[in-house]
Amino acid sequence: MKLKVITSNAGKVAEYQRSLGDLGIEMEHYRLPYDEVQSSDLEEVVSKGMDAIVAQGIRDFIIDDSGLFVDALKGFPGVWSAYAQKTIGNDGILRLLEGSADRGAEFRCCIGCDIAGQRIIVTGVCRGTITGEQTGDGGFGFDPIFTHDGGPTFAEIPMELKNRVSHRGIAVGLLVDELRKRGLV
Ligand code: IMP
Repeated sequence: MKLKVITSNAGKVAEYQRSLGDLGIEMEHYRLPYDEVQSSDLEEVVSKGMDAIVAQGIRDFIIDDSGLFVDALKGFPGVWSAYAQKTIGNDGILRLLEGSADRGAEFRCCIGCDIAGQRIIVTGVCRGTITGEQTGDGGFGFDPIFTHDGGPTFAEIPMELKNRVSHRGIAVGLLVDELRKRGLV
């Protein structure tokens, strides 16, 4: 069984290979432009993205979309996380939260998998809090301002630990569970 990982990010392919390779699924990096719908809902972005890919005649693939959802900002930056990271950055998020006692936030990762004519969509959630300042130089994106347990940020913990507790790690686990439940692996 071979799945195309449709992304511009080669790092994601390696991550899926690590998690799904043991199940006998081989990952292939596949670059394909497709229309992303504008929606404030990750699942809808993924599901419509899958429709657009299937409409191009492509089957047996994985796509994903993730983001940081901040409680006090009513879920912002959410589906606009990549854009917010590029524009206002971590400092911008910290400024928006200045003086706010509510620091709750969560990372979400939605994976869409088209396999053997079936569609699986799962979402992994990692709850935590936004710190008062940026700390750590590991990871990427919002890692320096997010802590899952009130301790060190995602940019300060070992990658193996982040992969275990993160939204992406949880989503991959849910995908594996669903593949097993359906007898696909
Ligand atoms: P993507 O959909 O996985 O490309 O993620 C979209 C954006 O969300 C990224 O550009 C990051 O800004 C943010 N993001 C997603 N996952 C993470 C993470 O694990 N750590 C930090 N930022 C993340």
